[in-house]
Amino acid sequence: MRDILDKLDARRAGARLGGGEKRIAAQHKRGKLTARERLELLLDDGSFEEFDMFVEHRCTDFGMDKQPKTPGDGVVTGWGTVNGRTVFVFAKDFTVFGGSLSETHAAKITKIQDMALRMRAPIVGLFDAGGARIQEGVAALGGYGEVFKRNVAASGVIPQISVIMGPCAGGDVYSPAMTDFIFMVRDTSYMFVTGPDVVKTVTNETVTAEDLGGARVHTAKSSIADGAWDNDVEALLQVRRLIDFLPANNQSGVPHWPTEDDGRRHDDSLDTLVPDNPNTPYDIKELILKVADEGDFFEIQEAFAKNIVTGFIRLEGRTVGVVANQPMVLAGVLDSDASRKAARFVRFCDAFEIPIVTFVDVPGFLPGTAQEYGGLIKHGAKLLYAYSEATVPLVTVITRKAFGGAYDVMASKHVGADINYAWPSAQIAVMGAKGAVEIIFRQDIGDAAKIAERTREYEDRFMSPFVAAERGYVDEVIMPHSTRRRLSRALTMLRAKKAETVWRKHDNIPL
Ligand code: HXC
Repeated sequence: MRDILDKLDARRAGARLGGGEKRIAAQHKRGKLTARERLELLLDDGSFEEFDMFVEHRCTDFGMDKQPKTPGDGVVTGWGTVNGRTVFVFAKDFTVFGGSLSETHAAKITKIQDMALRMRAPIVGLFDAGGARIQEGVAALGGYGEVFKRNVAASGVIPQISVIMGPCAGGDVYSPAMTDFIFMVRDTSYMFVTGPDVVKTVTNETVTAEDLGGARVHTAKSSIADGAWDNDVEALLQVRRLIDFLPANNQSGVPHWPTEDDGRRHDDSLDTLVPDNPNTPYDIKELILKVADEGDFFEIQEAFAKNIVTGFIRLEGRTVGVVANQPMVLAGVLDSDASRKAARFVRFCDAFEIPIVTFVDVPGFLPGTAQEYGGLIKHGAKLLYAYSEATVPLVTVITRKAFGGAYDVMASKHVGADINYAWPSAQIAVMGAKGAVEIIFRQDIGDAAKIAERTREYEDRFMSPFVAAERGYVDEVIMPHSTRRRLSRALTMLRAKKAETVWRKHDNIPL
C-alpha cells in the first residue's frame, strides 16, 4: 500500500507542475502567479478541493500525440470556501498550451459550471489564456459553445465573477463578457478578441497590447472591466471582499455579517455636506461612506462614467446596492455611459434580491449632438427601464437636485421606489430656475428686475422638496444626520416586501 500511496503522491506532484518548472519560472518572471497559487490566495486556507487533476487532452493532430502529456490540460478546477461560504472555481494554467481550451479542458469547466448551478453557489473563473486551442479546431470551438451556454443558463441565478490575470483572447474574453463582473490586473492582463499581431495584419494598425486591451482601456474607456488592481495578490483579496457582499444565489438572500456599527448612528457632519450655493459640488462618496457599516464601500466601475457611483455597502450587516449621482463630475448629469453603467448595476441587484439605495443629485440628462448621436435616448431608457422593472426594496434619498426626466429615472416613487426621502436641501423641478424663467417668462427677458423677481418666485415655489412632499411623491423630508438610521429602519421593514409580476417569457429592455 505504501508504494501505491507514494505513486499517487508522485502523480499528483507531476500534475501540479503543469507545463513544467521553466514555464512556471517564466510566469513568475512576468509578475504573475500560477493557477494553483492564485486559487490558494482566493480560497480559505486548505479549503480547495480539486477535480479532474489527471484529465488529459485527446488531440493527435499537429504532433500533439508526440508531445509529453500534461495532466490537468491547462485548467485547475474544483471548489472551496471564501470566509466559510462555498465557491466553485476554475483557474486557467498559462503554462500548459497558454491556458488554451481543448475539448477536455472545456469539459472540466462545464463540470464545475454545472455543479455550481446545481449547488446554487457562486463561480469564479481566473483567466490567463489564449482562447480556443488552435490544434483542436472545431472540437475546441464546440467546447467554448458549451461554456457560453452555461454562462447564460447561470446568469441571474448564481453570481459569476471573472478575473483576467494574463493575456486573454477569443473565448477567454467572450465567456467573461457574459458573467456578472470582470476584474483585471494592471500591467499584466489584457483582453482582446484578436491580439496586436492580428490587428496589424488585418487593419495595418500598430497598437500595443496595453493600448488595445489593458486594464486602463477596459476600466476607463470600454467599461468591459468593473475594476483593476496592481497585482495578483491584491486582485484576489479584493475578489474575496466582493464575494462577502454577494448572495450565494438569487433565492438565498444577502449574507448577514456581524457588525458593531449601530444602525441608529447619527452623523451630524451630513447636515453641512450640501453647500449653500446649489452650483458648488460636493463628494457624494462622503455620504456613502458615512452611511455604510464601518465605512466599507466596494465600488463597481470606479474609473468609468464617474458622474454616477455604483457599488455595495452593508447596513446593519446586510448588503445594499448603492447608486448615486456624483456632483463632483459633470455636476452628476446623466449621460449615455452613466445610464448604462447604473442600469447594469440595478439589474444585477434586482436579479439577486439585493435592495437598492439611490442618492439623487442630478441636474438632468446631458444635452448635445454627441449624446443624441450616441443614442442617449436608448441608453437613458435602460436605466429608466431597469428601475421600473426592479422588484427589490428601493429606497431613494434626494439630497439636492432632482430635475426633469432624471427625477423620474432615479428611482422616483412613480417608477416603483418603496420609500422616497428628501433632505431639506432638495430641489425637485422640471429644470433649474434660470432655464425655467427664460422659457416661461420669455417676454420679460431684458427686464433684469422682473427676471430676478420671477426667478425668486420660481425658486420659492419649486426649489424645495415640499411641492413633491405635498403630493406624497416624497414620503418624508428627513434630517441629513439621520440618513443612516432612516435607511436601516426602512430596509428592515422592507425585508417583507413581496412584489407580483405578470408572466412573460422575458422582457425586451432596449439594448
Ligand atoms: C494553442 C496556444 C494558444 C492557442 C497560446 N498558445 N495560445 N496554443 N492554442 N490558442 C501557446 C503558445 O503556442 C505558446 O506555447 C504558449 O501558449 C504561450 O504563448 P505565447 O504566444 O508565447 O505568449 P504571449 O506572447 O504572452 O501571448 C499570449 C497570447 C498569444 C496573446 C494569448 O499566444 C495569442 O495571441 N494566442 C492566440 C490567440 C487566439 O487567436 N486564440 C484563438 C481565439 S478563437 P509554447 O509551447 O511556445 O510555450 C476562440 C474561439 C472562441 O477562442 C469563440 C468566441 C466567440
